[in-house]
Amino acid sequence: MSPRTDAATGEAFGSEGEAPGLARPVDASQLDTRHGDILYLDDITVSFDGFRALNKLTLDIAVGELRCIIGPNGAGKTTMMDVITGKTRPDAGTAFFGQTIDLTRLNEPTIAQIGIGRKFQKPTVFEAMTVAENLEIALKTDKSVWASLRARLTGQQRDRIDELLGLIRLGEQRQREAGLLSHGQKQWLEIGMLLAQEPKLLLLDEPVAGMTDAETEKTAELLLTLKGSHSLMVVEHDMAFVGSIAQQVTVLAEGSVLAEGTLAQVQADERVIEVYLGR
Ligand SMILES: Nc1ncnc2c1ncn2[C@@H]1O[C@H](COP(=O)(O)OP(=O)(O)OP(=O)(O)O)[C@@H](O)[C@H]1O
Ligand SMILES: [Mg+2]
Repeated sequence: MSPRTDAATGEAFGSEGEAPGLARPVDASQLDTRHGDILYLDDITVSFDGFRALNKLTLDIAVGELRCIIGPNGAGKTTMMDVITGKTRPDAGTAFFGQTIDLTRLNEPTIAQIGIGRKFQKPTVFEAMTVAENLEIALKTDKSVWASLRARLTGQQRDRIDELLGLIRLGEQRQREAGLLSHGQKQWLEIGMLLAQEPKLLLLDEPVAGMTDAETEKTAELLLTLKGSHSLMVVEHDMAFVGSIAQQVTVLAEGSVLAEGTLAQVQADERVIEVYLGR
């Protein structure tokens, strides 16, 4: 089947880009954030064999916000990201990207394409390629890996790679094989690869797990730089790290929001202390 083209942007959409029943293709230019929020989760329930991993979860993220999500193991934090990215379909509830884009009707590649980038815990960079080549591939997502390395970079793409290398603090490593980087550097490279795709919302699941203290600090600086121009949802157990980046913190427990506020506010909340912090 030949890809269809969106009349407004001229961009091609794959025939597999929509869940069954979706009438029209979506693209990021349809993202409507005039009401100030980029993500609206409402009453989301996800059950696994009768066990409710998410239980009527309701949560909003504002445009440009850096939201931290904390909560005990098994609280449903990763499952929430699975719902947002289309990996898991909720049994009930809605998930909107802006006012109008219903994420529960889109598949994973489409959700990535319309501007939601997700970083998993384990870095997945191309180890045998250089740092710069990894970013090149991420910039040219419409081609296969080898075709994209053969294709010449435009001046604009070259500038963007330089900009990304600066942002992720890997300028001096640009010609290094990615496999030789430290764990923290690989994580930054993967964040850079996500940024190459110009996401509006970035989901990061335990980004500083396994990092040294110095790497954790640099990651905090990087996320603070991204805040404002991007919306971010960061799941972390490292409270010192959360304290260094968070404005608003949401505490999940047993699949629902238990508390929300500044880190100091939620840390003082008796219920939060009982289920999470007091252990
Ligand atoms: N595919 C699945 N099948 C069955 N149960 C699942 C599945 N995915 C998650 N669960 C269960 O759902 C609950 C929530 O898991 P989830 O991974 O979302 O928690 P989490 O908050 O990310 O925890 P952690 O802090 O340990 O990463 C857990 O009890 C988990 O065992
Ligand atoms: Mg998890």
